Amino acid sequence: MVERRRLVAGNWKMNGRKAGGVALARDLAERCTSAEALPAEVVVCPPATLIWPVAEAVAGSPLLVGGQDCHAAETGAFTGSVAAAMLAEAGCQYVIVGHSERRRDHGETNADVAAKGRAAVAAGMAPIVCIGESADERDRGEAVAVVCAQLTASLDGLLDRKPTSIRPVVAYEPIWAIGTGRSATPGEIAEMHARIRAHLAVLGGDAQAMRILYGGSVNAGNAAEILALSDVDGALVGGASLKSGDFWCIVTAIS
Ligand code: PGA
Repeated sequence: MVERRRLVAGNWKMNGRKAGGVALARDLAERCTSAEALPAEVVVCPPATLIWPVAEAVAGSPLLVGGQDCHAAETGAFTGSVAAAMLAEAGCQYVIVGHSERRRDHGETNADVAAKGRAAVAAGMAPIVCIGESADERDRGEAVAVVCAQLTASLDGLLDRKPTSIRPVVAYEPIWAIGTGRSATPGEIAEMHARIRAHLAVLGGDAQAMRILYGGSVNAGNAAEILALSDVDGALVGGASLKSGDFWCIVTAIS
């Protein structure tokens, strides 16, 4: 069995200003530094303008920094976009791609997501590739089919890599659980994560070595139960990542 290092990533979304963001990151960095044994890789994903000051503030600590999105192209006429190499230069080791809010608000397709993921790897960062079904799709009994189809297309060109190169991380985030306070049940999460791991193997990925995070209303109260599930390798946390104490409770819920 390959040991999969757990990963807890905080997605700050479009929240925070410089002073508060740097203070939050510093507080987390201190908690990471003083922890006897850090049970997971801990990552914060601030809004783009805060990446640089946050990365500088936590440099040298175990706290890692990630972006919330990147463009697939290296450079060019893409007003408002940020290239993967720019994030890496600012201090990012991870970047979220294909979050459902970007798929919804910016019309990102699975092909776009895969292209962004490949750009991330080319820039030396691990993409956190988000997938997840809508409430309607789940009600129609299509959740597994939808998620597997998203996996296939969103990981295009990302799995056929040498074992030493950067592995993408998958984040299963049912859309109906994001920001609603209603997380998927442990049973629903366990079933979907097992299906995702099986599908990763079908796709030719190193399924046992790949990390699959759960996201969607993870909080200090439900984290221990969710993170104890065998195919859950960590969490992607939105709202509860904006408060240091709550986020830290999630990190330390890993047994
Ligand atoms: P939430 O968001 O924890 O606030 O539900 C999760 C996410 O969108 O990644």
